[in-house]
Amino acid sequence: MTDGTPPPPLRAALQSAAAEIDHALGVLIPPAEGPEAPLLAAMRHAAIGGGKRLRGFLVLEGARQFGVARASALRVAAAVEMLHAYSLVHDDLPAMDDDDLRRGKPTVHKAFDEATAILAGDALQALAFGTLADEDTHSDAAVRVELVRCLARAAGCRGMCGGQMLDMLAEKDGGALDEPAIGRLQLLKTGRLIEYAAEAGAILGKAPVAQRHALAAYGRDIGAAFQIADDLLDATATAEETGKRTGKDAGAGKATLVGLLGLDRARLQAERLVAQARDHLDSFGERADLLRDLAGYTVERKN
Ligand code: IPE
Ligand code: IPE
Ligand code: MG
Ligand code: MG
Ligand code: MG
Repeated sequence: MTDGTPPPPLRAALQSAAAEIDHALGVLIPPAEGPEAPLLAAMRHAAIGGGKRLRGFLVLEGARQFGVARASALRVAAAVEMLHAYSLVHDDLPAMDDDDLRRGKPTVHKAFDEATAILAGDALQALAFGTLADEDTHSDAAVRVELVRCLARAAGCRGMCGGQMLDMLAEKDGGALDEPAIGRLQLLKTGRLIEYAAEAGAILGKAPVAQRHALAAYGRDIGAAFQIADDLLDATATAEETGKRTGKDAGAGKATLVGLLGLDRARLQAERLVAQARDHLDSFGERADLLRDLAGYTVERKN
């Protein structure tokens, strides 16, 4: 284990990608002006100026493997981050996890109100799909449709929303799920969107199917590891470190591997997944080194 900071090349790449993604989001989300200004301000509050941008970084790094134009990749990275931001806004609502702090700031329903938070989430989702479908994202309509189709699958009832439903149902039952059921919950809730982020660059680059599948498999494994790490941080880190309330999952009755297996076995499981994720990159050369490093960082991170 390291001190939780990424290796210097990954750290620099994450920092510059986050700045580029933030800039792209700032351009794509309209300014908070006019009669709908509160909605736009809430969207900007949710999506701009915070977050690790891991999903966006995955899009950019996946796209770099295939020489995709940076401007195209950045639009897709921004779209994935909008979808993710929407999922967080709704996840934080009183009807769901009822949180007041996100990315070191008040959650959207605290800074605005619940109705505005629901609408800001909805509008960020719509803007994500609209961004993918726009000609500026890729000149080939078949590529744009594939980006849209796969994001819809990752985000919907067999993806993030389905996983959030399972999370809520398990919470009502006091978290009593076995390991395979928790694995499926986490695959849907977190894994599918991270899988999509890893695969999107291959879609943009019209990559050979074997390489596209390898990136998707890598994404699934780091997605699973990532949620275990999030659950470990909930149990072990502070709000100052993570920018969100911690120590809540056990009391809320969340179904997590940390709750089922304990900290050490959950961490081992996450480390196994990281090794497996790296194996999926065997057919990629040195250009995939940042993706290899990122796999480890998903578990070693402290925020
Ligand atoms: C938090 O995701 C929600 C989960 C799926 C665990 P992140 O930890 O990627 O949140 P940000 O984007 O960095 O704020
Ligand atoms: C949320 O998981 C996953 C989403 C799809 C938003 P958590 O509820 O554990 O995420 P945090 O801890 O609030 O960021
Ligand atoms: Mg939740
Ligand atoms: Mg939550
Ligand atoms: Mg959590």
